[in-house]
Amino acid sequence: MAIYDAIGTTYTTTRRPDHRIGAQIAAALGDARSVINVGAGAGSYEPPQTVLAVEPSAVMIGQRPAGSARVVQARAEALPVADGAADAVMALLTVHHWADLDAGIAELRRVARRRIVILTWDQPAFRRFWLVNEYLPQAAAFDDTRAVPVQQLAELLGGARVEPVPVPHDCTDGFGAAYWRRPEAYLDPAVRSGISMLAQVGDAALRPGLQRLAADLRDGRWHDRHRDLVRREDFDAGYRLVVADR
Ligand SMILES: C[S@@+](CC[C@H](N)C(=O)[O-])C[C@H]1O[C@@H](n2cnc3c(N)ncnc32)[C@H](O)[C@@H]1O
Repeated sequence: MAIYDAIGTTYTTTRRPDHRIGAQIAAALGDARSVINVGAGAGSYEPPQTVLAVEPSAVMIGQRPAGSARVVQARAEALPVADGAADAVMALLTVHHWADLDAGIAELRRVARRRIVILTWDQPAFRRFWLVNEYLPQAAAFDDTRAVPVQQLAELLGGARVEPVPVPHDCTDGFGAAYWRRPEAYLDPAVRSGISMLAQVGDAALRPGLQRLAADLRDGRWHDRHRDLVRREDFDAGYRLVVADR
């Protein structure tokens, strides 16, 4: 069973594409006239020129809005399309889930005629994010086991440029660090279930850290410690766009 058949049932409740991140992805895709979205999930950030979405989870496919691009149930490691099938291929917040990274990236290179755009995160930078650094070390340890080093991705792609993706304070896509300035959100089970790092570690292991966070929010300790953050509009939590030309 695809992992997102289990953890993705309420994905679109909290994971709505953010228009600022969307603009950065669109700029990275440039003038590509056809795009294949690999690990497409419910279709976030798919531009109008998307010709195909590839997604292994039926639960995620079921959440694609009516009228989205054609979708095929398959994995990155074996894309059911011809060589050079699209100008660009994008893979957003998905490479850390792949069973065989090398095979998946080789497939992206086989299929993209001109450009590959990957959204991922830099784990050493992400580890400094207050949620995992101060409260949920189990989540950081879990991500250590699956995060793909950005340098490794760039090498597998045969060279790439890397852009930071700042997270707006009101980011609408509820991924791991989306709520960096809204700490109460992490106490909401619906928010946690939309973040695979937290959903896969599970509430039992996270409970002591979450209880500490709740207490620190009640008595003002979190705000005292993070005054500098509360004044910021966006934050670099380690998310990166990796862009390769063919
Ligand atoms: C965090 S979601 C991201 C979905 C979408 N790209 C987005 O930005 O909202 C990760 C997605 O990767 C998919 N996935 C997991 N393993 C995969 C694989 N081997 N090949 C392709 N997609 C995979 C999951 O089913 C899930 O839909």
